[in-house]
Amino acid sequence: MIVPPSPGLRRLARAAEHYHRWIISRSRDVRVRAVNRDLRLRVERVRREAEDVVSLRLANGSPLPTWRPGSHLDVHLPSGRRRQYSLCGDPADRFSYRIAVRRIGAGSAELHALTEGDELTVRGPRNAFPYAPADRSLFIAGGIGITPILPMVKAARGDWRLIYCGRSRDSLPFLDELPEDRVRIRTDDEHGVPDAAELLDGFDGSVYLCGPAPLLEAVRRTHHGPLHFERFAPPPVVDGRPFEVELARTGDVLPVPADASALSVVQERLPGVAYSCRQGFCGTCRVRVLAGEVDHRGGATFGHTEDSMLICVSRGTGRITLDL
Ligand SMILES: Cc1cc2nc3c(=O)[nH]c(=O)nc-3n(C[C@H](O)[C@H](O)[C@H](O)COP(=O)(O)OP(=O)(O)OC[C@H]3O[C@@H](n4cnc5c(N)ncnc54)[C@H](O)[C@@H]3O)c2cc1C
Ligand code: FES
Repeated sequence: MIVPPSPGLRRLARAAEHYHRWIISRSRDVRVRAVNRDLRLRVERVRREAEDVVSLRLANGSPLPTWRPGSHLDVHLPSGRRRQYSLCGDPADRFSYRIAVRRIGAGSAELHALTEGDELTVRGPRNAFPYAPADRSLFIAGGIGITPILPMVKAARGDWRLIYCGRSRDSLPFLDELPEDRVRIRTDDEHGVPDAAELLDGFDGSVYLCGPAPLLEAVRRTHHGPLHFERFAPPPVVDGRPFEVELARTGDVLPVPADASALSVVQERLPGVAYSCRQGFCGTCRVRVLAGEVDHRGGATFGHTEDSMLICVSRGTGRITLDL
C-alpha cells in the first residue's frame, strides 16, 4: 500500500527543493563560466562616454547568451588581436551587449575606429568577477574600471555605496547612470591621488574593486574583510626566478628577469605575439615548449600542459625553447 505523504512531509520536501534551487543559483554566481561559441555581432551604436572612452552596442538580431554582472567578452579585433571587455549594459536585455573601451594602445584604438554597421567576432560571455549581493557592500571603481562595477551597483541590494575615482570628472564614463545618493565621485584634480585607508574609512564588509594596479594593491594591503577584484592589466610578478627563452625560429636567446613575464620579454622581440588577458585565464598566449622545463618551484606555474605553457604567467627553469 502506498501511504500519501503527510502535509508536514510535503512542506519539508518543498523547502528542500527551494533550498536546492537557491544553492544552484548562488553557485552559478561564483563559477567562472564561458560560452565557448563565437558570435558575429554588428556595431549598432557608438557613443562617446568620456575623454578617450567610447561605448559600443553590439547585436545580431537574435537572442544572445545570458550574462551576470562582472562578465566580459573576448573580442577578436580586425587585426587578429584579442582583447577582453567587460559587459556594462543591462543583463536583462537579451538582444544587445554594451562594452566601453578606453583608448590605451593598438587594440583599443581598433575598437575606437569602428563605426556603426561594422562587424566583430566575440566569444563569451565569461565571468571571472562574480557578484554575490551582501548585506553591506562597498564598490570601488577607478576610471574605466567602472565597466564591470556598473551592472553590479544596478543589481545591488541592502546597504551599499560606490566610490568612483579618476583623474577628473571628464575622464569618468557613465556618471549620468549612477544614483547620486549612493555614489561618491573622487577626482585627483579635486582631492589628490586616493589613499586606501581614506577610501575604506574602517569599512570591513565586502569590497568589489576594479581599477589601476596601485589602487588595487593599496586596498589589498589595507582591507581586512572580503575583497573581490578584477584586473585589466597584468599583475606584478612576485617571487619569480630569472630564466632564458630561446625562440626556435631565429635561435635568439632572451633573458627573462625575475620581475618580468616571458610574454613581456618575447613581445619586445616579436611585437605581434598573441596575448589577451595576461593573467593566465584566456589561453591566447599558449605556446609549444620544444625543450626545457617549466618551473614548478616559484612564480606562477599554472596553465601549462606537458608540452605547452602560457607565457604570460608560467616560467621556465634554466633555458626553455619555445615554438616561436
Ligand atoms: C577581464 C578584463 C576585462 C577588461 N575590460 C575592459 C573594459 O571594460 N574596458 C577597457 O577599456 N579595457 C578593458 N580591459 C583591458 C583591455 O582588454 C585591454 O587590455 C586594453 O584595451 C588595452 O589594450 P590595447 O591593445 O589598447 O593596449 P596594449 O598595447 O595591449 O596595452 C598597453 C598597456 O596598457 C596597459 N593597460 C591595459 N588596460 C589598462 C588600463 N585600463 N589602464 C592603464 N593601463 C592599461 C597594459 O597593461 C599595457 O601595459 C579588460 C581586461 C580584462 C583582462
Ligand atoms: S594572455 Fe590570457 S592566458 Fe596568457
